Amino acid sequence: MIARILFLVFLLVAVFFSASSAGDTLIPGQPLLDVADATLVSAGETFELGFFSPDANSTNRYLGIWYHSLSPQTVVWVANRERPVAGRTGRLSLYPNGTLLVTDGGNSSTTVWSSSSGSLALASPVARLLDTGNFVVGEEMTSSPPAWESFGFPTDTLLPGMQLGVNTTSGLRTNITSWRSATDPASGDYTLGIDWHGVPQQMLWRAGQKYWRAGPWNGLYITGAPQMDTENLLQYQISVDSSEFILSYTVSNPSVAVRITINSSGLNEILTWVDERQGWNVRGYVPLDPCDNYARCGPNGVCSPAMSPLCRCLPKFHPANPRNWDLFRDWSGGCMRDTDLDCRNATDGFIKQTGLKLPDTSTATVDESLSTLDDCRSWCLTNCSCTAYARANFSGGGGGSGCIIWTSPPTDMKFFPDSGTGQDLYVRLAAADVIAVSESNHSNRNRLGIIIGSSCAAIFLLAFGLILWKTRRKHHVPEEATEGEDLDLPLFDLKSVEDATDNFSIANKLGEGGYGPVYRGKLSEDQEMAVKRLSKTSTQGVDEFKNEVMSIAKLQHRNLVRLLGCCIQAGERMLIYEYLPNGSLDTFLFDKDKRELVDWKSRYNIILGIARGLLYLHHDSRYRIVHRDLKASNILLDKDMNPKISDFGMARIFGGDETMRNTTRVVGTYGYMSPEYAMDGIFSVKSDVFSFGVLVLEIMWSLWKEHKSLELVDESIAQLFVTDEVLRCIKVGLLCVQEQPEDRPTMSAVLLMLNSNSSLLPEPKPPGFVITKEISKTETSTSKGDSLSRNHVSITTLEGR
Ligand SMILES: *[C@@H]1O[C@H](CO)[C@@H](O)[C@H](O)[C@H]1NC(C)=O
Ligand SMILES: *[C@@H]1O[C@H](CO)[C@@H](O)[C@H](O)[C@H]1NC(C)=O
Ligand SMILES: *[C@@H]1O[C@H](CO)[C@@H](O)[C@H](O)[C@H]1NC(C)=O
Ligand SMILES: *[C@@H]1O[C@H](CO)[C@@H](O)[C@H](O)[C@H]1NC(C)=O
Ligand SMILES: *[C@@H]1O[C@H](CO)[C@@H](O)[C@H](O)[C@H]1NC(C)=O
Ligand SMILES: *[C@@H]1O[C@H](CO)[C@@H](O)[C@H](O)[C@H]1NC(C)=O
Ligand SMILES: *[C@@H]1O[C@H](CO)[C@@H](O)[C@H](O)[C@H]1NC(C)=O
Ligand SMILES: *[C@@H]1O[C@H](CO)[C@@H](O)[C@H](O)[C@H]1NC(C)=O
Ligand SMILES: *[C@@H]1O[C@H](CO)[C@@H](O)[C@H](O)[C@H]1NC(C)=O
Repeated sequence: MIARILFLVFLLVAVFFSASSAGDTLIPGQPLLDVADATLVSAGETFELGFFSPDANSTNRYLGIWYHSLSPQTVVWVANRERPVAGRTGRLSLYPNGTLLVTDGGNSSTTVWSSSSGSLALASPVARLLDTGNFVVGEEMTSSPPAWESFGFPTDTLLPGMQLGVNTTSGLRTNITSWRSATDPASGDYTLGIDWHGVPQQMLWRAGQKYWRAGPWNGLYITGAPQMDTENLLQYQISVDSSEFILSYTVSNPSVAVRITINSSGLNEILTWVDERQGWNVRGYVPLDPCDNYARCGPNGVCSPAMSPLCRCLPKFHPANPRNWDLFRDWSGGCMRDTDLDCRNATDGFIKQTGLKLPDTSTATVDESLSTLDDCRSWCLTNCSCTAYARANFSGGGGGSGCIIWTSPPTDMKFFPDSGTGQDLYVRLAAADVIAVSESNHSNRNRLGIIIGSSCAAIFLLAFGLILWKTRRKHHVPEEATEGEDLDLPLFDLKSVEDATDNFSIANKLGEGGYGPVYRGKLSEDQEMAVKRLSKTSTQGVDEFKNEVMSIAKLQHRNLVRLLGCCIQAGERMLIYEYLPNGSLDTFLFDKDKRELVDWKSRYNIILGIARGLLYLHHDSRYRIVHRDLKASNILLDKDMNPKISDFGMARIFGGDETMRNTTRVVGTYGYMSPEYAMDGIFSVKSDVFSFGVLVLEIMWSLWKEHKSLELVDESIAQLFVTDEVLRCIKVGLLCVQEQPEDRPTMSAVLLMLNSNSSLLPEPKPPGFVITKEISKTETSTSKGDSLSRNHVSITTLEGR
């Protein structure tokens, strides 16, 4: 009975409270009380308004708006962000004059927040929370624009439909400012808004200083923020003219919750809600890379995120402070002209720089009346302080219209290697320099310009390095200083490699490679790397290291292990590779338990993959590369058991028509070595083919040992086909290990044969196994033979068949 009464009381209380929070409307005389847990919920139950506490350990209460049904609570707007109510004594009231007040009822009703300073002159005002997340105050029975709206006073979040920017006609000036921390909504250091100086542009400030600049709007896109484009989910509306710069967005799929925010560490992010389990997904963010740091390369400097060093001077400019520039990698001093302009004699000219985030426009001017680029050029030549110009507006189609004109040194330029991003900038140079640039452009047309410096830059260790690695491969940098090797390889900072590998901890050690230990490291949350660290004592290693860098840096194939970068710093030399979770092939072939895990299908796939990788090395890459140390322990397997050839320490690059070479220093692994190489030191692509043959036979043999081939024979309809595959592989293996190099097939023939009927293949001659265990033992100083005896076993057994 008592229980029933208690239950009834509970129901009544529940009804009372739910009634008090059910509405979306606040009217004068009925304040919203925190103590009663009262909230407003928008009509479609999307958003909720009420008091909340971002910090469970604090009694501070704030009036805010959050998503009604998303958990954990995601707050998109805060009223009294600077003045919390201490305890649950806060109340929100709407006054008859249309003002909203948040008061702290606990202390003689102190006002902690008020919506407006001027009277709104409303006859009968109501405040309503809309499904857009906008909290509006207006006349009760009208549809006219609200007299006050929370969208006019954003906190740290831009919801669809909110406007960010400046409208000088209406006096609107909105920006978003980060929270101080995840538990403190007070204004933090970072503000995103519009810089209204010069030609207006979107800007992120940190403590009042320029921190990241998106660049001006050119009618089609914002030149410095391609990464904020998110697969057409968002449609940006940008309205720009002499009196306003307003940015807002809508969402193509309104059922997806989307917000743009600045978090307390200064990241401007686009987030979409996935589900309860995964929460918010970051779809895009800035600043993205080190080049997004405002004016990283100083005046007249261009930043390329994929290059090392990051900064270069504009053509025919040189570092203002070479010591800082080269030695300390402090580029902020920027660059100076090689030759002064000659304005009075009107001899100056221009060079075009493509794919740039246009320089800071806060001191630039725009002239909409100039219609052609030639007009821009003439205009610039008449004004001695003009340094550069660019197209202002492409929205009319054609070649665009209007010009942006810079009268101070162009600053904060970033180079985008992808075509279709960035914009052309015309930089003014003295006549002699223009001629020099056009001549050197001509002779350097095909140069790739990434330079491996002599020491490691303080370079980022972020996942974006990978993205850039992909996009960077073909770009043309005409004016690159040329010291050192001409390599396209990111340099990693020693400190970050140490962090990633936990200071080269034993726990992270993967094994011992040819010239030193290999460690596993974390590149980012979901990207791992393998770090090959050259022993400081190894002298042979230095050559191998250089060789490996030279050979593989220029290669890219899905069956070659991918080099992500290197680190050369403080006496350390390291190669950084993608990490392959399944380790090397030998562990699968020679470990009895693991052997059973590899079925015929994946073995066949492994053979095909190695063949393809080798074909690329021998014939399809820009160079002809002989690996010289192909063996099971140098084949790594990714998570899907795709093979990747690794360890290029012994590889040799062959010139255009060179087919073989002689060496007195035979290196490699006995058992995999072709007779002519082991005996006479002659190597060629055919010696790799031999090693490939041994490898194939090893794979087949270990399959045999597991009786897999027998199982295959009595299996279903696919058997004929599979049996033929098995026979084909054995035959190809035997063809590859023929004694005479000229009898062995090339890798392209191998791939062809692997894909044709086994009965069509030529009959192999007897294999050329001439190496005995005794010889290999006397030569171990140059051998890396960790699988020596195993190789031997497999070969002799095959010999016997
Ligand atoms: C609250 O404080 C305790 C003890 O200081 C701490 O362990 C806990 O993480 C804090 N909780 C939150 C949400 O900050
Ligand atoms: C109460 O409010 C008065 C002024 O309105 C202020 O001086 C005083 O510090 C407040 N007391 C508390 C405990 O907040
Ligand atoms: C509106 O009324 C409230 C309460 O009387 C007052 O505090 C506030 O200053 C008024 N606002 C204007 C703009 O008059
Ligand atoms: C800017 O303000 C004017 C005057 O209030 C208004 O007509 C115009 O639509 C506003 N611009 C934008 C983009 O909202
Ligand atoms: C951001 O907006 C506030 C309120 O309009 C304004 O006072 C402040 O100057 C703006 N900040 C920037 C950097 O535009
Ligand atoms: C800001 O966002 C990034 C990326 O989502 C996250 O790694 C970082 O921890 C966030 N910072 C804070 C203070 O929440
Ligand atoms: C301009 O031309 C005159 C005569 O041709 C020459 O003497 C002078 O050096 C030139 N000025 C500059 C700055 O090159
Ligand atoms: C050059 O252009 C700038 C920017 O438009 C202007 O302020 C300056 O007066 C011009 N100088 C001359 C000599 O025309
Ligand atoms: C850009 O050009 C278009 C078409 O010519 C014009 O309508 C628009 O007003 C121009 N934008 C600016 C910012 O001048």
